[in-house]
Amino acid sequence: MVQTPRIVVVGSINMDLVARVPHLPRPGETVRGSAFSQVPGGKGANQAVAAALLGADVTMIGRVGNDAFGQQLLASLKTQGVHTKHVHVTPDCPSGLALIGVEDSGQNVITVIGGANERLTPEDVQASEAAIADADALLVQLEVPLQTVVAAVQLAAKHGALTILDPAPAPAAPLPAELYGVDLISPNQSEAEALTGIAVVTMGAAQRAAAALHERGVKRVVIKLGERGAFASEIGGEAIQLPAPQVNVVDTTAAGDAFTAALAVALVDGRSLADATRFACTAGSLATTRPGGQDAMPLRAEVLGATAGLPSSAASTGGQATRGTPKLSP
Ligand code: RIB
Repeated sequence: MVQTPRIVVVGSINMDLVARVPHLPRPGETVRGSAFSQVPGGKGANQAVAAALLGADVTMIGRVGNDAFGQQLLASLKTQGVHTKHVHVTPDCPSGLALIGVEDSGQNVITVIGGANERLTPEDVQASEAAIADADALLVQLEVPLQTVVAAVQLAAKHGALTILDPAPAPAAPLPAELYGVDLISPNQSEAEALTGIAVVTMGAAQRAAAALHERGVKRVVIKLGERGAFASEIGGEAIQLPAPQVNVVDTTAAGDAFTAALAVALVDGRSLADATRFACTAGSLATTRPGGQDAMPLRAEVLGATAGLPSSAASTGGQATRGTPKLSP
């Protein structure tokens, strides 16, 4: 790292209430859980912590409630080295909550109750303009009001920061056109489908979904493919599939957050899109080896060590970096 990347995250801060279950309940079914935990999460805060642990200087812009969870969430961000001057305590409002079920395979279901996150306004973002003006990159997701996300992207673009949108959770309605002006978008498969209508089940489909997003104006697209790695493309550049290291999956919660944060850090570090995506795949995979949201985020040294073992050049499918349009293995 030449200089410490300065990253601003505008996004959600949640307390995650997590039940470990043998399998996720179907509608109407009751299952016996084996463990409960209360851990700090929220897509925005997870990405802030991940970027800080990967060596960035991170400022969070967000809101917590004026409740015990809010105090714990603020304390957790500070402990992890995230600047919280622009995290506001919201009067008469509960903190954001996520009810999470994690089954033994590591898969999860998440219900988010926005709470104070819903009160984050464009004015809050404007009031933090100095922090954004000073940043190399802005990271946004979709767990705070859309007009606030738009305001953050526009302000960051005005100041020349790299703008990265993680369109999670998947939007129920079309995104405002302004959000396709970001430098990079990093959907997972279901989010890519929600945005484009294309089911990302093959490399060809990933390429078509990426092309649709490029057509709307996004310069770089990185589609997260879980244990199969990621597909990355840029306007005028290559389209590449990159592998993820094989790991023992414990909990997939926040793996996507680790991925996007790592992508941001690596790009600000001056890495190519392919190298940055490889680094991000490793960070995402490592996050699945531990339970929790912020608690699961890997350290820079771990990610560098594990990335070193990955193939670095183009090859066929099956755990190798690939270019072109082979099928995604089912
Ligand atoms: O991406 C994982 C996160 O989604 C959880 O931490 C939960 O809070 C929800 O925001």
